[in-house]
Amino acid sequence: MTNNHEAVTVIGLGAMGSKMAETFLAAGHPTTVWNRTPGRAAQLVAAGATETKTAAEAVAASTLVVISQVDYAAMDNSLQGVDLAGRVLVNLSSDSPDRLRQGTRWATERGATLITAGIMVPPPGIGEPGAYSFFSGQREVLEAHKATLEVLGRVDYVGTDPGLSMVYYQAMLNVFCTTLISYFYSTALLGTAGISAEQLRPYIATMLEELADDGPMGFLKILAAEIDSSNYPGAENNLHMMAVGSEHIAHAFTQAGLDTTLPAAVAALFARADADGHGLDGFNSMIETIRKPVA
Ligand SMILES: NC(=O)c1ccc[n+]([C@@H]2O[C@H](COP(=O)([O-])OP(=O)(O)OC[C@H]3O[C@@H](n4cnc5c(N)ncnc54)[C@H](OP(=O)(O)O)[C@@H]3O)[C@@H](O)[C@H]2O)c1
Repeated sequence: MTNNHEAVTVIGLGAMGSKMAETFLAAGHPTTVWNRTPGRAAQLVAAGATETKTAAEAVAASTLVVISQVDYAAMDNSLQGVDLAGRVLVNLSSDSPDRLRQGTRWATERGATLITAGIMVPPPGIGEPGAYSFFSGQREVLEAHKATLEVLGRVDYVGTDPGLSMVYYQAMLNVFCTTLISYFYSTALLGTAGISAEQLRPYIATMLEELADDGPMGFLKILAAEIDSSNYPGAENNLHMMAVGSEHIAHAFTQAGLDTTLPAAVAALFARADADGHGLDGFNSMIETIRKPVA
């Protein structure tokens, strides 16, 4: 059964790496695993994986080496002194874009090719419909292993710059984190009035649906078109009005006795954009202020 399937090594058996190895095994790929701390591979070995005592043995077992660790320093630590010549390292760990670029130089100096990646699902989503990752680096190398990597989810190649996969990943994670944190703030605010999270949920869900709507009235679609053309009509909801409104939001949190870190930061950003002269523009003109680093 496994004869037609590419062998793969998985380095790092945390929540993500373990699920990746399990998914490769389930798809019929001969799978070798290694983790810094031993004792994390029993279930994988029972399912057919080969566990090695050293990272060097794991790397020697397969041309394709999939890495999922806490960051890129962990890759350096794990693979220091290991013969990487001819290996294709696919690192799905999180780090900064520049750290991925540095990791790529590090791998090249050792005769390996590094494909960088950002995986956009949590462990239960790996290999499930809708799962995808951003990949960057050498396209032809990625193409040669694409069928194996597709076992984890869709392969979205974004470009040769090795940092680009992480620019996409962090851009997406930023929206995920700030959206959910703002949701937590709002839930806490209504909670002070005895309103449950479940009572608020349908209103939030409707707002998110309207934002994401793909039709001509989809708010995100309208905002994106305006941003791409640097044209921010403000006749219906200008930025100054929103700046004043953002102060009201911050006051509501102060009056409720809650943390004000996020609402105060939002109000401060609006105030800067207003001071930058965008008061009569649409509130997405805020992007011009974001593009100007604080002096
Ligand atoms: N969990 C998610 O939902 C999710 C989703 C998308 C992306 N990610 C990213 O995927 C990566 C892995 O996440 P995870 O949830 O699997 O994390 P995790 O469960 O905390 O596992 C971390 C892994 O990194 C290894 N590690 C840490 N420091 C190391 C070092 N100095 N040298 C060697 N190995 C080291 C750990 O080995 P030990 O067992 O020896 O400690 C473990 O295998 C992270 O970059 C994360 O940001 C996670």
